[in-house]
Amino acid sequence: MQNKDFSGKVALITGSSKGIGLEIARELGRRGAMIVLNARGKEQLESAHNKLVMERCEVTSIPADVSSPDECKEMITFAANKWGRLDIIINNAGISMRSNMEDLNAESCQKIVDINLLGCIYPTLYSIPEIKKSRGSIVFISSIAGIISLPTATLYCATKKGLVGLADSLRFELASDKVHTGVVFVGFTENDPDKKVLGPGAVTVPHKRPNHMSRKEVAKEVAKLIKKRKNRVVLTPLGKFVSFATWISPKLVEKTIIAGRKYNLDNRLGIH
Ligand SMILES: NC(=O)c1ccc[n+]([C@@H]2O[C@H](COP(=O)([O-])OP(=O)(O)OC[C@H]3O[C@@H](n4cnc5c(N)ncnc54)[C@H](OP(=O)(O)O)[C@@H]3O)[C@@H](O)[C@H]2O)c1
Repeated sequence: MQNKDFSGKVALITGSSKGIGLEIARELGRRGAMIVLNARGKEQLESAHNKLVMERCEVTSIPADVSSPDECKEMITFAANKWGRLDIIINNAGISMRSNMEDLNAESCQKIVDINLLGCIYPTLYSIPEIKKSRGSIVFISSIAGIISLPTATLYCATKKGLVGLADSLRFELASDKVHTGVVFVGFTENDPDKKVLGPGAVTVPHKRPNHMSRKEVAKEVAKLIKKRKNRVVLTPLGKFVSFATWISPKLVEKTIIAGRKYNLDNRLGIH
């Protein structure tokens, strides 16, 4: 029988109409949490909502763009009013990129920062009073790019590293309120085949990445981080290795990345 260890908790997951966000919602919902789904696209959001209802999860949903402060304020008010509390917020919505910085334009720079950084800041800002009341958790979905800087991912790395500063500072500010903040450094995870990322200019390009972990496994790790109130978790063996190598010898890691770029290693490994 399914362990209902999140019973009585209300969890809002941003960007949860598909991908990792939907799987986190499913995991927490199956374990008894009341789920608030969010995304911009209404059709996909409704489809995700219906899937979770079919799976007997207690769920509601709200379309909102996390890069809009007003929409985030409304989203948090809606989430807190629905079941009278908010225990967990998971800042998951994000977009990826694949372009040298010099080929970006102002519009694409703005988009990445707005969604990946401000899109975590606004939901967090407005949820703090509720999370303080419930002594709950604020979780940030970062990436291995939040540990190691990578070429063709400059702004993605900047935003994902920014989440670490945000979570760590908040932990100090909210320590006396018994609020938990945690960061999940996600590695290469299975993606929808039609997933697109920002490329040169403001156009989107297909996303081809190795698949080192399933979304379900990521969701289980997120649930574990919340349960154990851990500060951080690094996912995938490659992620753990990179984290260790960066700590031991940042210079060697830097040389390896530059050599990899010189010999076009990412294309050879099928990363497009
Ligand atoms: N997949 C990986 O390999 C991987 C690796 C490392 C880190 N991550 C991180 O994990 C998170 C989820 O990634 P994923 O691969 O599951 O992404 P995904 O499949 O592209 O799903 C993204 C979700 O976020 C929503 N979204 C995007 N922009 C939004 C906005 N402005 N406001 C509200 N919702 C928004 C999307 O719906 P709408 O477009 O309809 O809004 C969708 O529901 C991201 O933060 C990503 O950086 C993923």
